[in-house]
Amino acid sequence: MALKAAEVLISQERIAERVKTIAAEIGQKYAGQNVLMIGILRGAVIFLSDLVREIPSSVDVTIEFMKASSYGASTQSSGEVRISQEPTIDVRGRNVIIVEDIVDTGLTLRRLCEYFSASGAASVEVCVLLDKRERRVAEVPVEYVGFVIPDQFVVGYGMDYDEKMRNLPSIHVVREAAEE
Ligand code: PRP
Repeated sequence: MALKAAEVLISQERIAERVKTIAAEIGQKYAGQNVLMIGILRGAVIFLSDLVREIPSSVDVTIEFMKASSYGASTQSSGEVRISQEPTIDVRGRNVIIVEDIVDTGLTLRRLCEYFSASGAASVEVCVLLDKRERRVAEVPVEYVGFVIPDQFVVGYGMDYDEKMRNLPSIHVVREAAEE
């Protein structure tokens, strides 16, 4: 059954406002320092792009990307997460902020935190736009959270269904296309 983007869960305006607040927090914490912001492909691309542009120039920001993939398909995490694309910038001695669009079971972030704790980074923090807290299996510290959301499948603002709808400016819940 095909799915479509239905009602807006979080509007473009609310996202923009929250992104500014998080950027200001990062600005306060890292003023006068370098921070290496690592977006997790692909979902975090839009959030990272908006976030870094709201961080004050008193922070020296470096951008990097990496990819983590769950074994298995579809919307359910299989439990095993591998790093399928490593950062090419050396993270040793750096202040890292992992930027994710969403934390669901927490398995991806747990794997990423393991990766960075072995990497020699000076510090590691986590910044997520959406937190599906009730789905958590692995507890991971998350320093910056945009919104806590219910257990609903969401698309837009970087998040996809079958690699589509990432370009929608707001975050929508999805419904079966036949439900109209
Ligand atoms: C999503 C999201 C996180 C992960 C969270 O990525 O971006 O990386 O799932 O789920 P978890 O907390 O249950 O581990 P996805 O695998 O959908 O890839 P994408 O970012 O390319 O859409």
